[in-house]
Amino acid sequence: MNSAATSTIQPRSDASPGLAHHATSEAYCSQARDYDQRTDAFRRWRELLVEQLPVQRGDTVLDVGCGTGLCLPLLQDKVGPGGTIIGIDASEQMLQVAGERVAEHRWDNVELLVAPVAAAAIEHTADAALFCAVHDVMQSRTALSNIVDHLRPGAAVAAIGGKWPAPWTWPLRAWVANLHAPFVTDFAGFDRPWRLLADLVPDLQVRELAFGAGYLAVGHAPGDRPLM
Ligand SMILES: C[S@@+](CC[C@H](N)C(=O)[O-])C[C@H]1O[C@@H](n2cnc3c(N)ncnc32)[C@H](O)[C@@H]1O
Repeated sequence: MNSAATSTIQPRSDASPGLAHHATSEAYCSQARDYDQRTDAFRRWRELLVEQLPVQRGDTVLDVGCGTGLCLPLLQDKVGPGGTIIGIDASEQMLQVAGERVAEHRWDNVELLVAPVAAAAIEHTADAALFCAVHDVMQSRTALSNIVDHLRPGAAVAAIGGKWPAPWTWPLRAWVANLHAPFVTDFAGFDRPWRLLADLVPDLQVRELAFGAGYLAVGHAPGDRPLM
C-alpha cells in the first residue's frame, strides 16, 4: 500500500505561477470554478485518454496539468486505493477545486503539487504520465523533461488535446480557434502539439481525432519495457 496523504505542497503566494497569459490566467484563476462546465464537451476525450493509458492497480501516475481534477476519478478506477496519483498544476485556483474533489471522495492516495511543471519537485518515480489538454505544457521542453525524468524506464505516456485540422477545413479551424483560445497561451506548435514529447518518447504513436481537430499520442519512456 502507498501511504501518500492528500496534500497540497509547494504553495505559492502569487496568484498564477507559470501562467503568464491574461486569457489563460482568467480561465484558470478567476474562472476556475466554471472550468468543469465549460469543458464538459471534452469529457469523452478524457475517458479515451485514460482508457489508452496502460496502468495497473497499485501504479503511480503523474496527472500533468491536472486542473480541477476531472481525470482523477478515471485514474482512481485504474490504479485503485493502493496506487498513487500526483496532480501537478500551476494554478492554485484550479487545484483548490481538485482538492475539494479529493476531499469529497475521501481519496488518501492523491498528492496535489502547486507548481509550474518545469519546476515541480516531484518526489516519486512514476509508472505513467498523463497529459490531458495541456497545450502550454506540451510546448515546453523543460516541463516535458522534468516529467520524463521522473518516470521509470518503459513507463506509459499518453497525451490528448486539440490541434489544427487541415488548412482547407477553414470553418473547422475557426471553430477550433474559438474553442481553445481561452485555454492556451498561444497557438504556437498547434499543428503538431506532440512534437517535443516525441523527442523524449521515441516510440510515441499519434492518431488524429475529430477530423484532425484533435490528437491522441501514446508511448513509453525510454528504457526497458515492463512485461504487462
Ligand atoms: C485545459 S486545462 C486541462 C486540465 C485537466 N488536465 C483537464 O483535463 O481538464 C490546462 C491546465 O494546465 C495548467 N497549466 C498550464 N500551463 C502550465 C504549466 N506550465 N505548469 C503547470 N500547469 C500548467 C493550467 O493551470 C490548467 O489547469
